[in-house]
Amino acid sequence: MSASAPLARAEETLYRQPMAATSPPPPTSAADDQPDGPVNGRSGPFNAEFDDDPERYDEMRAGGHMARRRTAFFEGVVARVPGDVLELGSGTGTLLRTMAAAHPDRSFTGVEPLEGYARFANERAAADGLTNFHMEVGVGEDLPPSIESGSVGLVMTIDALHHIGDLDAVVAEVTRVARPGARWVAMEPNRLHPYVLAYHVLTPGERTFPPAPFLRAVRRAGWSLRTKRRMFTFPSTTASVPGWAASLERATEWFAPVSGAVVLDLVKG
Ligand SMILES: C[S@@+](CC[C@H](N)C(=O)[O-])C[C@H]1O[C@@H](n2cnc3c(N)ncnc32)[C@H](O)[C@@H]1O
Repeated sequence: MSASAPLARAEETLYRQPMAATSPPPPTSAADDQPDGPVNGRSGPFNAEFDDDPERYDEMRAGGHMARRRTAFFEGVVARVPGDVLELGSGTGTLLRTMAAAHPDRSFTGVEPLEGYARFANERAAADGLTNFHMEVGVGEDLPPSIESGSVGLVMTIDALHHIGDLDAVVAEVTRVARPGARWVAMEPNRLHPYVLAYHVLTPGERTFPPAPFLRAVRRAGWSLRTKRRMFTFPSTTASVPGWAASLERATEWFAPVSGAVVLDLVKG
């Protein structure tokens, strides 16, 4: 038996573990934003402690050094990869709305189980005059019918796959809607960083993301890995860093124990 077999088995177990149960959040002024029942057969929490607060979540995802780098990275991806763009687990649409504003000739669709998040995103997009952005309420395991088979050129998942219960179903759905040659760029928390691991193990509603079983599933479905990289050494709460620190981050973030995210760039076929 190889030395890595127990680790691989542990990863399979983690990969299949059900969403951690937490007690329902206390009633808040935003409680009306919550769906009355389960979304596509599943009820929350979908996004740990922020399920009932789209405004605060959007603010948090939009500001700071890491958010700016994430946006710049995905701006590069969208500029390079043609076709309609789909983001699964798109939250309040922070990043997708920015991309839609920068590319008025392209179509941007988000899929998000939290009705309050989707409504928030669509209202913000309308207020900003975006006509090429739409957020659907739904889950990655069963995509809304408006997303047609073979229609998507670029799929983005950002800190979303580790929240999803049935990754095999998501892989099947993404494969169905992606056109031949489509790309799927996934950015997830890097569980090889001790703090990232501890946070995602100890926080109710969070889980870790082991890349190996995910990569096996996408390969079985006909995807290939183009590149795997790691990003970020400063925590998401860092507002800004001086130029020398930004350069140091770029030079060191490849080293797994200090990097916050793993980024997988996949191509279909
Ligand atoms: C950490 S948030 C990231 C949101 C957004 N991608 C961003 O970067 O701001 C994860 C999102 O995945 C969503 N999510 C959870 N389970 C999901 C599922 N089964 N299908 C699609 N999205 C899901 C959550 O509701 C949440 O909005």
